[in-house]
Amino acid sequence: MNSRLAVLLLIVLASTITLVSSQSVADQFFKAEADNNVCRANSDRFEPTDGLQKRQGSCSDTVQGEIPDVDHMVSSLIVEPENGQKLPANKNFTVKISTINLITGFFDDPATEYYKFPQVVDKDTGNIFGHSHVTIQLLKSDNVAPDPKLFAFFKGLNDPADDGFFFQVVGTETNNGLPAGHYRICTMVASFAHQPTIMPVAQRGAQDDCIRIEVVDKDDGKKKRNTLNKKRKTKFL
Ligand SMILES: *[C@@H]1O[C@H](CO)[C@@H](O)[C@H](O)[C@H]1NC(C)=O
Repeated sequence: MNSRLAVLLLIVLASTITLVSSQSVADQFFKAEADNNVCRANSDRFEPTDGLQKRQGSCSDTVQGEIPDVDHMVSSLIVEPENGQKLPANKNFTVKISTINLITGFFDDPATEYYKFPQVVDKDTGNIFGHSHVTIQLLKSDNVAPDPKLFAFFKGLNDPADDGFFFQVVGTETNNGLPAGHYRICTMVASFAHQPTIMPVAQRGAQDDCIRIEVVDKDDGKKKRNTLNKKRKTKFL
């Protein structure tokens, strides 16, 4: 074999090996997904999801479960407060949420059964068994998404809704309402085992709603009026 041929052969061999290895990674990835086997394939990267909420991530092999038809897709609307409403700081207020096509009041133990069970649809109504949440975040920027690890208020709406409406007081035993700031209030609908609700079609309306509110210090308005009056007085002097 002359040396040129040897080099050519080496190149062909090397490129085949590269091709085979990148091909097999892709094969492995997609095959694992097709076999619902992704957790075994990547067990070196993620430990199995086992009912605990794992902050370091994990791999779940819980199937998605029952999916409702298009006439039973979940939808939410925050009715109160109004979008853009100004609310007084450090004063409790109520978030009122309309939710349709969800059988409310269903949740398993979030400490030990998180993502443990597939979504289940009620045979009689065709609606998903689940619950919702209210999550409120301080918005420091209108241009960059907030860090989801940070929230000003969070509450699971575990009790059954009242005739299609959830009512959640925002406040704790130690803190009434929220301190002054620009906030986003969102709903977060979930199946009973806490995974986001799974819907039958991709193109649809959102299952959740978000609004923005301004929480202002009580005397903010007074302060502004005082400054305005002072300015006026100075002008007329
Ligand atoms: C505000 O709401 C919290 C939680 O429901 C409650 O513990 C607290 O007593 C309320 N404060 C007032 C002034 O009603």
